[in-house]
Amino acid sequence: MAINLINTPEWHALAAHAEAFGNRHLRELFAADGQRFEHFSLRQGDLLLDFSKQRVGADTLDLLHRLAAAADIPGWTAKMRAGETINHTEGRAVLHIALRAPQGSPDARPEVAAVLDRLRSFCHRIHDDTWRGFSGQRITDVVNIGIGGSDLGPRMAVRALAARQQPDLKLHFVSNVDGADLAGTLAGLNPRTTLFIVASKTFTTLETMANACSARDWLVAAAGSQAAVARHFVAVSTNLKATSDFGIPPENVFEFWDWVGGRFSLWSAIGLPLALAIGFQQFEELLAGAHAMDEHFFSAPAAENLPLTLALLDLWNTDFLDACSHAVLPYSQSLGLLPAYLEQLEMESNGKQVNREGQPVGVATAPILWGEAGTSGQHSFYQLLHQGGRLIPCDFILLKEADFPLPGHHEQLLANCLAQSAALAFGQTEEEARAAGASAALAPYKVFPGNQPSSTLVLPALSPFALGQLVALYEHKVFCLGILWGINSFDQWGVELGKQLAGRLTPMLAGKGGDALFDASTRGLMAALRQS
Ligand code: F6P
Repeated sequence: MAINLINTPEWHALAAHAEAFGNRHLRELFAADGQRFEHFSLRQGDLLLDFSKQRVGADTLDLLHRLAAAADIPGWTAKMRAGETINHTEGRAVLHIALRAPQGSPDARPEVAAVLDRLRSFCHRIHDDTWRGFSGQRITDVVNIGIGGSDLGPRMAVRALAARQQPDLKLHFVSNVDGADLAGTLAGLNPRTTLFIVASKTFTTLETMANACSARDWLVAAAGSQAAVARHFVAVSTNLKATSDFGIPPENVFEFWDWVGGRFSLWSAIGLPLALAIGFQQFEELLAGAHAMDEHFFSAPAAENLPLTLALLDLWNTDFLDACSHAVLPYSQSLGLLPAYLEQLEMESNGKQVNREGQPVGVATAPILWGEAGTSGQHSFYQLLHQGGRLIPCDFILLKEADFPLPGHHEQLLANCLAQSAALAFGQTEEEARAAGASAALAPYKVFPGNQPSSTLVLPALSPFALGQLVALYEHKVFCLGILWGINSFDQWGVELGKQLAGRLTPMLAGKGGDALFDASTRGLMAALRQS
């Protein structure tokens, strides 16, 4: 049973500490400790986390770690690794760590190795052109049809590792039920050379099924025969009956298991688009990077543990400094989809107000996560970060080495990242603005309050290994936060009501059935949409 931490002496001690310490300015904290960077930074392998610009002191960390000890994170980690049904509302284990555990590791599972072998051989057949379409032509384009966890991970990772893309194979992603998504993608493709991956854990998700059926119609219309489906469709799913009912032969189905949550499934066969994009060997490097982070999370002492540290900083910012939003700002165009990926990972996991005992959590949980690649974001919303008066902790992510080196670009990118985190932390007083030449009239507009907390993650380069480390870091952070808030991070009941209502409204839009049970607004909108 999880304990409700907000009633513990550890929580009360943090609340008292926040009263006394919470408003201290980062300028003051840096002035008081010339070695603040050394004291507040950690490494895992080549990955560096600088959290010296977070609004914490050594005593804050000490109190946060006491809270973590009360939450028994090692105990919950052991339950996860033992395959206990810690996703209790769905009666499921949570074992995505097994997907990246090498053979011989205590977390490895034989069924995972068997599917990886099949994926490896499938990738080879696509890459060496032995897998051919219905007309005998080689495959040039792969379209992943999936949504949520069956889309965001591979989509983000394919873009992140674009510098390592295999030649002669283009990857496309379709998720939205809006016909513009599929039609726009198919418009540029040749059915003879296109392979579809239908990726869905349940194989019942409305958007994915609608897109898969339309894609199948497109293919069959061109091929003139249903038999072409077996050459152009593969599936990734836990639901083997539904994939077979759809017409995908069992040898084209790559299985995963109910103990893999959708938003934790990049490492499973859901990663197939990525394996096709970068080659299977590099996909295995991604798994190795994630596994290295798993090992670190399981074995590093609390004070040196990166995922736990990030979780405690989030908790501090959210529940003690009252931040309700969190920006992720990768200074890497290739990591531009990371914020969208993390939106699902963090908000679908921890955007909950009921704890494991069915009681209110009692404090704020997952902050609203958002963000965009720097430097583009600097020219849109950074104004608000600097002078909007809201506390918005930021994660800056940067690469020591550029993945697309062009003379002078990377230095400018890195300089901008460091400039922004420094400006957010230390700001500018009115006196400083005047000293820099601002007139008396304009000086008030040039005041930057600063004290905006941030962490900076430095990756040596955007390798598959480093990406694996980075994503697993966030996964374990999410896990720790779930334990600290006493919630189940692995269900998602909050998405169900809207799905049910959409299921009832869809036939009504086609004129079938009355809408009397709906509210006046929905009825009015329905009438407006039905008018010819
Ligand atoms: O609607 C939410 C959700 O269930 C996510 O949790 C999941 O990643 C997504 O839908 C897609 O589900 P599936 O892989 O079963 O199609």
